[in-house]
Amino acid sequence: MQTTLIIIKPDAVQRGLTGELLSRYERKGLQIVAAKFIQVSEEIASKHYAEHKEKPFFGELIGFITAAPVMVAAVRGPEAIAICRKINGATNGVEADPGTIRGDYAVSKQLNLVHASDSPESAERELALWFNGEIIDWSRQNERWITG
Ligand code: CMP
Repeated sequence: MQTTLIIIKPDAVQRGLTGELLSRYERKGLQIVAAKFIQVSEEIASKHYAEHKEKPFFGELIGFITAAPVMVAAVRGPEAIAICRKINGATNGVEADPGTIRGDYAVSKQLNLVHASDSPESAERELALWFNGEIIDWSRQNERWITG
């Protein structure tokens, strides 16, 4: 089992897609183990995107993610990190396959609706940053019908 971080970004929230996008991870069979609707601070944004600090688009990235509220969630399941990356599709909406979130709803690299951790190390770091001590370990009654 893996747990990964999902951010439903400001563009998706503004477009009224929060529920639709969160439900895609849930319908796949992943379990929500934390979620909150928040206005992101510059401090959290800079820590979250620390690996992009030297990139030319870093300032824009921080401006975008702090511009309006986001929904942040932690989802759990077998290979959850890879599954969520597939559900999201390629970073650039222009290149993302139809059927993925970005393939269906995005035409931009920055306005790409969602974020998901890209490795077990990133997931651990991001979950600690966004949900320190807030993850709820709960059991689904129908687990055996989902993960076997
Ligand atoms: P995300 O998965 O949140 O992680 C890093 C983000 O940087 C990525 O999604 C994109 O939204 C953003 N990004 C990547 N490349 C560019 C770019 N060339 N210009 C603007 N934003 C970018």
